[in-house]
Amino acid sequence: MRFIDKEDISGKRLLIRVDYNVPIKNGEIQDDNRIKASIPTLKMALEKNASLVVCSHLGKPKGQVVDELSMKPVAKRLGELLELDVLLAPDCVGNETKEMVNNLKPGQVLMLENLRFHSGEQKNDPEFSRELSSLGEAYVNDAFGVSHRAHASVVGVTEFFDLCLGGLLLKKEWEYLTKISKPERPFILISGGAKVSSKLGVLNNLMDKVDCMIIGGAMANTFIKAMGFGVGKSLVEDDLLDDALAIMQKAREKGAGFYIPVDFIVGDGIDSNEGIEVVPYQNIPENKMALDIGPATCTMFAEVLTKAKTIVWNGPMGAFENRAFAQGSYNIADLVADLQAETIVGGGDTDALIHKLDLAEKFSFISTGGGSFMEFLEGKVLPGFKALQDKG
Ligand code: 3PG
Repeated sequence: MRFIDKEDISGKRLLIRVDYNVPIKNGEIQDDNRIKASIPTLKMALEKNASLVVCSHLGKPKGQVVDELSMKPVAKRLGELLELDVLLAPDCVGNETKEMVNNLKPGQVLMLENLRFHSGEQKNDPEFSRELSSLGEAYVNDAFGVSHRAHASVVGVTEFFDLCLGGLLLKKEWEYLTKISKPERPFILISGGAKVSSKLGVLNNLMDKVDCMIIGGAMANTFIKAMGFGVGKSLVEDDLLDDALAIMQKAREKGAGFYIPVDFIVGDGIDSNEGIEVVPYQNIPENKMALDIGPATCTMFAEVLTKAKTIVWNGPMGAFENRAFAQGSYNIADLVADLQAETIVGGGDTDALIHKLDLAEKFSFISTGGGSFMEFLEGKVLPGFKALQDKG
């Protein structure tokens, strides 16, 4: 793979794919971390007098123009961050857009309208890819968050460029994630969040690589039930009890540590502050939900984690949106933040948790990927990476 910092891009018009799929409410961006993460690439290219045609998807408009999913607020925020005027094209292809691109001067930035307003984007349509590619002299992928999608702006366009490069964000993601293949040991995976089903691929793939796995969040309930205990009204995936047992069995065979909670904070419901108590894993009351890991579990996890030299963390330990069920996630975040270890985090909820606690600076790396981060951990080849490698 070739990266932007090692190639001559001076004065070139670059088509840069970024992932600005950010949460927007009433026209206001709720979290601009993904935009911020792309700034080093854009600034570096601007310093080299390149002109930038920046493109992204936003939401899932399914090939239709959806006004609420316009890139307008994103272009505005990007302009503020870059401290220059960012122009917004009326579309991502077509004559008007082409003309704006042709008038672009070195040092200027033009943002294209939402790529997914055209169905050709998600279909990886060759004609759409060709049209898009005509907007730049070289292509840069700085969109790790969407590199698991074989879409036109991620894969198809690369067919039409001689020079295809990874941006600085993509490079950083690549470097940190590939560290996982040769981790400093002990290497521990912390897996949390709601569902075992969405983590099965990761647990199975990393089982051969980790020294230890720590399971928290509602997904732990499925393991508790698989062991024959009641979980009350807690979230549980009954169709995955056998898979949960198989994972525990596999860990035993491989000699990998496998830790699930020994106590829980239970309550009447996720949005309720009623009926809260700490119970051991064998005694989850029938009318309650397990909503956070308990204090004994925090102590046990802390003992294990303190020895780690590499940690990959995806998924919170409980329903941390409700402060009553946040302590387990907060404790683990505080602890991991202070460790002398390589600490790599991915996934929207874990990212939100760490930013909420203002701990981002204390982690080695927070991936901008959600689905792409998971697919990488599952051992899958990301189409965006492959497309760049093929051109490299
Ligand atoms: C994300 O937010 O995970 C990426 O932007 C990919 O979005 P998608 O799941 O809609 O393809």
